[in-house]
Amino acid sequence: MKKRLLIATGGGDCPGLNAVIRAIVKRASKEHNWEVLGSIDAFDGILRDPMHLVELSPEKVAGIHVMGGTIIGTTNKGGPFAWPIQNSDGSWDTVDRSKDFMDRLRYQNIDAIINIGGDGSQRISQGLFELGCPIIGVPKTIDNDLSDTDFTFGFQTAVDVATDAVDKLVTTAASHHRVLILEVMGRYAGWIALHAAIAGGAEVCLIPEIPYDINKVLQIVNERVDNGRGFANIVIAEGATPIDGGMSFSENDTPGAMKIHLGGAGLRLAEELREAGCPIEIRETILGHLQRGGSPNAFDRILASMFGVKAFELVLEKKWGHMVAYRHPNIEAVPIADAIKEYNLVNPNGNLIKTARGLGISLGD
Ligand code: F6P
Repeated sequence: MKKRLLIATGGGDCPGLNAVIRAIVKRASKEHNWEVLGSIDAFDGILRDPMHLVELSPEKVAGIHVMGGTIIGTTNKGGPFAWPIQNSDGSWDTVDRSKDFMDRLRYQNIDAIINIGGDGSQRISQGLFELGCPIIGVPKTIDNDLSDTDFTFGFQTAVDVATDAVDKLVTTAASHHRVLILEVMGRYAGWIALHAAIAGGAEVCLIPEIPYDINKVLQIVNERVDNGRGFANIVIAEGATPIDGGMSFSENDTPGAMKIHLGGAGLRLAEELREAGCPIEIRETILGHLQRGGSPNAFDRILASMFGVKAFELVLEKKWGHMVAYRHPNIEAVPIADAIKEYNLVNPNGNLIKTARGLGISLGD
């Protein structure tokens, strides 16, 4: 009987997911005793009744490395440890279905799992590994906030999208003599904002790792008005905070989902700048999910392909509980537990920040 590998993509989608799936399937097809299945919508495909699994053959994945999204679907809600159930009064709770999940794997004769996902998904991988599950992780997220890997795939594409937005906003800011604020994603990390601000040449970049003083931001705008440039571009990460405030978010009451939804930092900054007496007009752009959709750039296609091939090789080596990681120039295996121990955040004294300051970009401090 053939061995069965199950692939799942979990959490927010990200450019390059399909390239990982294709690479795993292509590499697995060289071993004639393996077949590959996909679990639809992360691990929901295993936990639903009836189960929802699809066969992933080389023909099925041909050419998908250029496509955005994931052909097997994803979700950032629920999962084996927090499955949402509705009570008779209409309210929602979550239950631990991890034992049921393991039984279902046995029923399906699954010999190995490759779980492609970010921080939340790799926490699930670690929990399942501790229950004896033969699982390998692949780090995915546009936020680049997983530790122990130089980059996650999807991040560079998100930076390209954000940089393209800065480039466009610079020309309209200059034409209209305005402050243009661009809010980008990144959760608790400022990687996308900082990279896009440097690549696009913004005047100000505000990130969660360095709380900003609105008066310092205003000072930059005033200087730009006084020196005749007359406009300014600000990139703000969704998790950025003023020195005297917290993150801007809305409550998320979707059952089994993350409790908060970051967003609103750009609008809040605009309000703060107006109140502080900004001398020119302000407009805001929220880049949102444009950063997550669409085709991966060449770097992410290559990184995703390297991750996929390596992940299958870790399956052959039975390196359960490990995640593939990019440590330039190598693709290595690291314990999932290490990768999720802490967020990979921007170092306020690191080279990227020094570069930004050297270029005259204000971090609002
Ligand atoms: O983690 C990826 C990410 O895109 C974050 O940058 C963002 O805060 C979050 O997901 C948005 O999630 P949702 O898909 O729920 O809008």
